Amino acid sequence: MTTKQEYEWIDHTYDVVVVGAGGSGLRATLGAAQQGLKTACVTKVFPTRSHTVAAQGGIAASLGNMSEDDWRWHMYDTVKGSDWLGDQDSIEYLCKNAPDAVYELEHWGMPFSRTEEGKIYQRPFGGMMQNMGKGPEAQRTCAAADRTGHAMLHTLYGQSVRREAEFFVEYFALDLIMEDGECRGITAWKLDDGTLHRFRAQMVILATGGYGRTFFSCTSAHTCTGDGNAMVLRAGLPLQDMEFIQFHPTGIYGAGCLITEGSRGEGGYLTNSEGERFMERYAPSAKDLASRDVVSRAMTMEIREGRGVGPNKDHIFLHLDHLDPKILAARLPGISESAKIFAGVDVNKEPIPVLPTCHYNMGGIQTNYHGEVLTKKGKNPDTVVPGLMAVGEAACVSVHGANRLGSNSLIDLVVFGRAAGLRCGEILEPNLEQKALPKDAGGNSIARLEKFRNADGKTKTADIRLTLQKAMQEHCAVFRTEESLDEGVTKVSAISGMMEDISVSDKTMIWNSDLMETLELDNLVGQANVTIQSAANRKESRGAHAHEDYPDRNDKKWMKHTLAWYDYDKNKVKIDYRPVHDYTMTKDIDYIKPKKRVY
Ligand code: FUM
Repeated sequence: MTTKQEYEWIDHTYDVVVVGAGGSGLRATLGAAQQGLKTACVTKVFPTRSHTVAAQGGIAASLGNMSEDDWRWHMYDTVKGSDWLGDQDSIEYLCKNAPDAVYELEHWGMPFSRTEEGKIYQRPFGGMMQNMGKGPEAQRTCAAADRTGHAMLHTLYGQSVRREAEFFVEYFALDLIMEDGECRGITAWKLDDGTLHRFRAQMVILATGGYGRTFFSCTSAHTCTGDGNAMVLRAGLPLQDMEFIQFHPTGIYGAGCLITEGSRGEGGYLTNSEGERFMERYAPSAKDLASRDVVSRAMTMEIREGRGVGPNKDHIFLHLDHLDPKILAARLPGISESAKIFAGVDVNKEPIPVLPTCHYNMGGIQTNYHGEVLTKKGKNPDTVVPGLMAVGEAACVSVHGANRLGSNSLIDLVVFGRAAGLRCGEILEPNLEQKALPKDAGGNSIARLEKFRNADGKTKTADIRLTLQKAMQEHCAVFRTEESLDEGVTKVSAISGMMEDISVSDKTMIWNSDLMETLELDNLVGQANVTIQSAANRKESRGAHAHEDYPDRNDKKWMKHTLAWYDYDKNKVKIDYRPVHDYTMTKDIDYIKPKKRVY
């Protein structure tokens, strides 16, 4: 049984508390520390184990090392990739600041691959073109072989520990502490000794990543449960554009592990059971390097029409076997190893069996390009929530809109992580005396812990999680229909009900992975509900939301962002919308007008 003593708080005060230590969390942490602010980074895994470490192909920036380039061309491609759902002020900020963000990483020692002349090596990636989309393809994706995320994360961690930032490692963030609409801090559970902590701060920055684990097959780590997104939902704030889930074309069949798009950038191609390079039919000019949503749909169509490979004709082949073994060894060593381990394939000799796999969440916590969290208040859809920021995959700035281009994620992490640090420097005063937290601060976290520690129902956490993942995979994947989405809404809502019958075997607070996974599942449940309801409500096709009953994009009715709230007590989703920003940040580029998206 639980005791009152176990729920005593250990209190901390910082100017800035960053939750999460992936690429955006570390960049925000060191950015805030650079501003002279007393900064803490609270993270549930050791920083260099954050999921950024798994990013492979590269980081987009218009350096022009290997083909002519311009940040405006990068912006054009990003707007087009987003299927005109991205906010163009934010996209301008991203693309304009990208080159400096990459040079900063270089100067901090990031071990990029190099050209013969010693410049940063850049490879082609899907949807990246020259001349405002006219082509030819741009070599814009800066790479450290196929381990770019690993190189970046280690570089950023090295830089963060050089500064005065303090790390709270293996602390699991529970809830935001809110007072009168303002964020005052967070609560967290220290996993190794079971103690509970309250972090009071002038600013909380959520950098908790995506929630890929709502799906059965995903490239995301087991830890990708979108904890910050769920903290936001529990605080009564909305999440934006959650229906837009990216399926990466090349997850290893059966295992889900990522095979980088960089492999197609280096010349790899896809074939069906007839040995046909079918992408030539779907995207005559970009072919295998079309945008990810386009390639994933084409693969799914091939399988549906009976041209999948393997005994069950249920996947596709990715060929690298025609490439020079020296190129494979130098530029794609990581995926060569993954193919061997997870598919038993020698990439020099055989194709890799692949299948579209859940990879990225375009949706998340609504922010502006400074990283400040926004909510809809009265008629203003862009009201700043004081004391709260979000960056990285947890955030929806929105630069990726309805579909993200490959390698635009790593650049989003560092550009907006840096922006958040700069904004903190502008609006916060170092060591400002903060008023006391409300008396009941953290009461909601204790209630939730109590609920699950005393849960002695009949269904195991892992069983509910699997049911949820299978429902999301069946009803909210690459292609969607009205009937299937509506059925999915009902199923996912019923799965939330199953949380009342959950059994948590271990009641302790020390290294209790059953309890932790239950809290993570609770986080996934809220996000799954808003995702599938947002998808069911959007009656058009745009980017990654391919609705078979509404196959066209409908700008007149649907060029708007979804905002979704979830009431955990009532198991109820509320949906509203806000306009897309149809303006740029400066006069350096005009608003890019919508047109049909073809590759
Ligand atoms: O394919 C990849 O290397 C993934 C990159 C990304 O998602 O940005």
